[in-house]
Amino acid sequence: MLKLAVLISGGGSNLQALLDAAADPEFPARIVCVGSDTDAPGLAHAEAAGVPTFVVRPRDYDDREEWGQMLSAAIQEHGVGTGPEPGLVVSAGLMRILPAGFVREFSPHLINTHPALLPLHPGAHAVRDALAAGATETGVTVHVIDEGVDTGPVLRQARVEIRAGETEEELHERIKQLERPLLVQTVRDIALGELDLAEAARAAP
Ligand code: GAR
Repeated sequence: MLKLAVLISGGGSNLQALLDAAADPEFPARIVCVGSDTDAPGLAHAEAAGVPTFVVRPRDYDDREEWGQMLSAAIQEHGVGTGPEPGLVVSAGLMRILPAGFVREFSPHLINTHPALLPLHPGAHAVRDALAAGATETGVTVHVIDEGVDTGPVLRQARVEIRAGETEEELHERIKQLERPLLVQTVRDIALGELDLAEAARAAP
């Protein structure tokens, strides 16, 4: 059974999709903790499901690396990143760049979901950027996290056509409708060994 630590910053609808999937005893992963950089509303989803939560705020530390060490310690307390089974850290709407030391510690057992077809539109405003670029399609990417900003090896993508006159919120919601099942499926495939993160990281250009 793959142990998951999920990191969020916002409403946590992707987290909820993972919680729903993991409630099925047949699902090959379970969420052992949910962490955030802030008092994210989505933490309530974890609490409702009886999953332990923690908040580690960057502003409480002198630098990003120190914040990353504290985040790592909080995750390891729940048995992810320690012992013979590495577990998996899932960034599901964490709106922070993870520090290099943190990435090195968990790599390659560290994935992110991003609301664009990477390498297009990395960063914090992916949906807005796709609209501003006049794109006719965008989508979602689940990828291994490396030390860059949304640059790690792509695991799965799904495409969404952009409709004329659509707002950022409308488009983001339609992306999320594909994103939630894509993230769940990707985690499932990793847990079953059908998707090998070390192999994906080695194969990356
Ligand atoms: C998701 O669409 C995720 O891809 C995005 O935040 C949303 C979180 O939604 N992440 C980023 O933009 C990271 N750069 P949720 O809180 O409802 O799961």
